[in-house]
This record gives sequence, C-alpha cells and structure tokens, in this order.
Amino acid sequence: MSQPTIESILKEKRLFQPGAEFSQNAHIKSLDEYQRLYEKAAADPPKFWAELAEKELHWFKKWDTVLDWQPPNAKWFVGGQTNIAYNCLDRHLTTWRKNKAALIWEGEPGDSRTLTYAQLHREVCQMANVFKQLGVKKGDRIGIYMPMIPEAAIAMLACARIGAPHTVVFGGFSAEALKDRLVDAEAKLVITADGGWRKDAIVPLKEQVDKALEHGVPSVDNVLVVQRTGQNTHMEPGRDHWWHDLQANASGECPAEPMESEDMLFILYTSGTTGKPKGVVHTTAGYNLYTHITTQWTFDLKDTDVYWCTADVGWITGHSYIVYGPLSNGATTVMYEGAPRSSNPGCFWDVVEKYGVTIFYTAPTAIRAFIKMGEHHPKARNLSSLRILGTVGEPINPEAWVWYHRVIGKERCPIVDTWWQTETGGFMITPIPGAIPTKPGSATLPFPGIIADVVDLDGNPVGENQGGYLAIKHPWPSMMRTVYGDPDRFRRTYWEHIPPKDGQYFYFAGDGARRDETGYFWVMGRVDDVISVSGHRLGTMEIESALVSHPAVAEAAVVGKPDELRGEAIVAFVSVEEGYDAGDELDKLLKQHVVSEIGALARPAEIRFTDDLPKTRSGKIMRRLLRNLAAGQEIAGDTSTLQDRSVLDKLRSGA
Ligand code: WTA
Repeated sequence: MSQPTIESILKEKRLFQPGAEFSQNAHIKSLDEYQRLYEKAAADPPKFWAELAEKELHWFKKWDTVLDWQPPNAKWFVGGQTNIAYNCLDRHLTTWRKNKAALIWEGEPGDSRTLTYAQLHREVCQMANVFKQLGVKKGDRIGIYMPMIPEAAIAMLACARIGAPHTVVFGGFSAEALKDRLVDAEAKLVITADGGWRKDAIVPLKEQVDKALEHGVPSVDNVLVVQRTGQNTHMEPGRDHWWHDLQANASGECPAEPMESEDMLFILYTSGTTGKPKGVVHTTAGYNLYTHITTQWTFDLKDTDVYWCTADVGWITGHSYIVYGPLSNGATTVMYEGAPRSSNPGCFWDVVEKYGVTIFYTAPTAIRAFIKMGEHHPKARNLSSLRILGTVGEPINPEAWVWYHRVIGKERCPIVDTWWQTETGGFMITPIPGAIPTKPGSATLPFPGIIADVVDLDGNPVGENQGGYLAIKHPWPSMMRTVYGDPDRFRRTYWEHIPPKDGQYFYFAGDGARRDETGYFWVMGRVDDVISVSGHRLGTMEIESALVSHPAVAEAAVVGKPDELRGEAIVAFVSVEEGYDAGDELDKLLKQHVVSEIGALARPAEIRFTDDLPKTRSGKIMRRLLRNLAAGQEIAGDTSTLQDRSVLDKLRSGA
C-alpha cells in the first residue's frame, strides 16, 4: 500500500483546512506553495534569508556576509547595520500607517489607550532621551519589571533604539528572583511601575524593586517609575524618578542608533536543568527578520487585522509576538493588562468584541480555564471578527483543541499550534494557515528555512511514529547566540547533548517528539528536568534550590504531576532537618518560602514530607520513581539500581 498523503488524509476529513476563500487571500496560498518555498529554503538557507532580509527590513548598511557559522556560533548578516525600533516605528511614519493604531491597550479596571504609530514613536523617543539623560550608553543593560501597560513596550523599544539591551523580568517573579537577574545582567537602570492590576488587586512592583535593590545590585544607579496604580510609593531621592516628571521635558525626537546586525538586542532569563536561570541572548538583525516574517506568514497578517496575543511581555512570546513581530509589520497589536478572574470571567471576549480582534493567540492552559468557566461567556459576545486562532506553550490536548475550534473559532478559524522556545526566538514548527492543513495536537510542519528532525542521541533519525528528540540541523536567523556570560553552558546544553558528527551539528531543544506518516511533528513535552506549569517553564532544580535554602530542609526533590488545568503541578518531596516538625505549619512556611524565592508561579501544589529520598547507589535521586509516586501511578521500570528499597515502600504507604 502506498503512503497516505496529506491530500488523501484531508479528503478523509482527519485534517482541518479553512475555506477556499481564506487560502486565495493568504500570504502562502497552498500546500504546494509551502512545499516549494520549503524546498527552496532548504536547498540554500542563507540565500532564502538574504532575499527576505533585503525585501522586508530597512538597512542603514547592507551586510557583507549572510551567515558566518562556526558551530555552535552563528552570525547573521555580518557587516550590516539596522535598528529594530526603526523597523518597528520610523519606517511606518512615511506611509499611511503613520496614523494607524499601533498599540491598543486595555487596562484591567476598564481604562484604555490607543497609540498610533506616530504617537508610539514620539513616546519611545522621549523615553530613549530620558535613558540618555540618566547616563545610559549603548551596550548598557536595562532591567524592565513592568505590568502590562504601554510603557512596557515603549521601554523595550526605547532600549532597542539606543542600543541598550533590555532584560525584561516577568512581574510575577519575586524580589529575590528579580535581584538574581539584575545582578547577572549587571543592569544599570531599572524601569518599573508603582504597581499593576491583576485579578482586581494591585501588584506592588516598585516595592519588589526596592527589596531587590536592598539585597544589593551594585550596578543599578537609577530607577524609572511609571505611575499606574497611584498608591503611596516610596521614592529614594537621587535614585528613583517618576517617568511623567522626566517625560514632560523630554524631546520627542531621538534618532535610532545604527546597530551592527550581531549587537545584542536583549537577554531573557529562562529555566534550565540547573538551579541558575539562563540568560538567553538574542541579537538585532536575525531576530528582527525572523520574528517579522513568522508573524506575517503564520498569522497571515493583513493591514486590516487587529491582532491580540494574550502573553505577558515578561516572556519570549510577549517579546516576539506582542511587540517586535507585529510592530515590524506595521500591524495593530492589542495589549491587555488583566487576566480572566471570577469578577469578570468573560473579560477576554469583551476585548475581542470591543476591538474587533481578528487574530487571537493564547495558551492551552488559558483555554482549559475558559472551558471550566463555561461556554456561555464567549457565547454571550460577538466573536465574528475572529479569523485565526493560535496556541503556544505546551502540547494542546484534544479536548481543549476541539473546544477552541468549536466555541471560539465557530469551526471556521484555523488554529495555528506554534512550537518554539525562548531560545529559538520565533516559531519553528507551525501551521501556515490556508496552506498547511491542521490536525488537533500537532504543530504540523517546520517553517521554511528550518531544518527540523526527530533523532536519537546519536543523531540518527528515528522511524515514522517513533519517539525521539526534537533537533534542528541548520542555524536560523533568530537562534539564541549564547548564554549570557556562560558560552560553555550554551555549547554543552544545546549543541553537545547530541554529539556532532561529520560536521553536522544538532540543536537540542529538550523536547521529545515524533513524526507521523505525513511528516507532521507531534511534540510530546520536555525530556529534561524542566516542567511546565500553566505554560510557564520552571526548572525542578530551581525550586529544589529554593527549598533547601530554608534551614528546615535537609533535602528536596521536585517533580511535575499531571494537572487538568495547569498541565503540570509541582510536587516537592522534602526531608527535614533534625529538630523541625514536618507538619501543616512547615508545609505552609515552605510554600511561602518558594514564593518569596522565585514567585507565585513556582508555589508547590503539594509537599510530601519523607525521611529519605529514593536514590541510586551512586547517590542520584531517582526522579522517575518520584514522578510515578506523585501521579499516583504504579512504579514503572527498573528499580534494581535503588540503594534502599524500604525508602520507596515507606513513601508509597505514605509513612
Ligand atoms: C513547550 C514558549 C508543545 C516546549 C514559546 C518548549 C510547546 C517550551 C509548544 C518552551 C507547542 C512551546 N506544543 N509544546 N506548540 N510551544 N512548547 O521557552 O516544551 O517558555 O520547549 O517558550 O514550551 O517554553 P518557552
């Protein structure tokens, strides 16, 4: 029997494809066109990217070399000069887009603001001038710890404009976590707000910054504070400045600094398999090009679209697909401060209706929360403006996919399930709507120019429908360049996990995957000690280090267990030091301790006290067994390397 083709499966309706009219008007109109593009790109990736770079971006100076690949170090568009803030703002001002809405913002209490490209440009220039006034120079790092307000995007673009790399820290991280990141990045300036609104309460961000700086971040000499919530806020004389005070006298003109293609654009910290978060470094031109073109094709972006990504700017999704990708394309991007909450479970659908959102991009965990809140909320709103839906962050379960498709997309909107990572900068495996038919739960096929495969640890492709490691076999423009301050960790983690052979290098993503009979990719989840709680990446080691930093804790092991709403929930196995009582009180105390060390997103759902942890004879904690225990499953697999079987029996019996 011959292999089933995508076309034959489509006929059997195992795939979803929007109507013919959609495809006719799409950027990429058919599977054929995608395949041709893909093959052309695969035959000569640098040529493919160079053609797009020429067509899609403004350059102050053209590059000399498209790609300089000295594994694992890639340099793209070497010798070229550009500026991503220029591409996101200035170039639109000479077109009709000058007065188009660039940013539509909705605050949680219901206040709102729209900034046209001209207005956004002006505020970005003002903030860039304020940075200069505060002594910031090209190359200095700037910390951004902000709620979801326009000034968060303005701050990022102002950094990019003067060539000061930003490091955005998610507002849900604790003072301690903020401090670690500011210290590692040696930030010179921090931009924050008095507070932000989240679930009807004020998150006091400035207070957290004060705490972080109290613990000692010698590099920071100024803090710029945006007034958002208006509560009483301590301002340290000589160090802290209100944005509105300095903005009043700041010029709205500030030329964009010509940046070398490979100049650092930002650092974004992400969890890995050690206790220390990694500073993922992205650079200017390649990141700009890749986020630009993936936004355009994957969301089939049109000038009439109103695009809304519900992520936070503190994550890569907010960087690439709220700020840089959409604005580089001259799109209208929506930013929402709040989260669905019991006082307003329909708030997302209100935003869709109010602004006529056409493209909506969110996470499976949010979809599962919507399902729980009930379909009467979306059904009570007019969602007919929607034409494309997207999802990111974790594999989407069939139930969530079908609900999203039926209740939100009215069985009409394609769903783009985008697989990518902080490290990849942009979408790697994703449907292109209208061209690539979708199957629920599959991220489908690689973006043109991305050579992806599923391989074993020797780099050999595994067979059809066999599980293996997701790997990328050719550099791409928005790949991370290094781990900030730790090039060795970059090489080890990403490029040596699967050893290179015959000059072929493999980027190791840390995800397990399989390819089906049509070549579609199915991402199965992390294969390392990284767990995903509500789509947020957390290293189990990070949580363990937080736990053992408490004097009551002798040893801790953290695993994820399946959770209906959050994807995974955190379970910590803890043995306590002599003299401490393992009880409810300590349970509460330790959970709170993790919150203050990392943030509420890392709070363990469950702490299990135990005298001992199951270890191998060489002393390694056998997490696999703990995962089984946490999930309430039978212990699977080999336990012969276990040092002391009675530990396991005790844990099982709950003793
Ligand atoms: C997971 C978020 C399945 C994956 C952009 C990856 C996904 C990690 C998908 C990166 C998807 C992201 N299907 N899994 N569509 N998208 N992931 O760095 O495990 O926060 O390695 O970037 O999320 O998380 P990060």
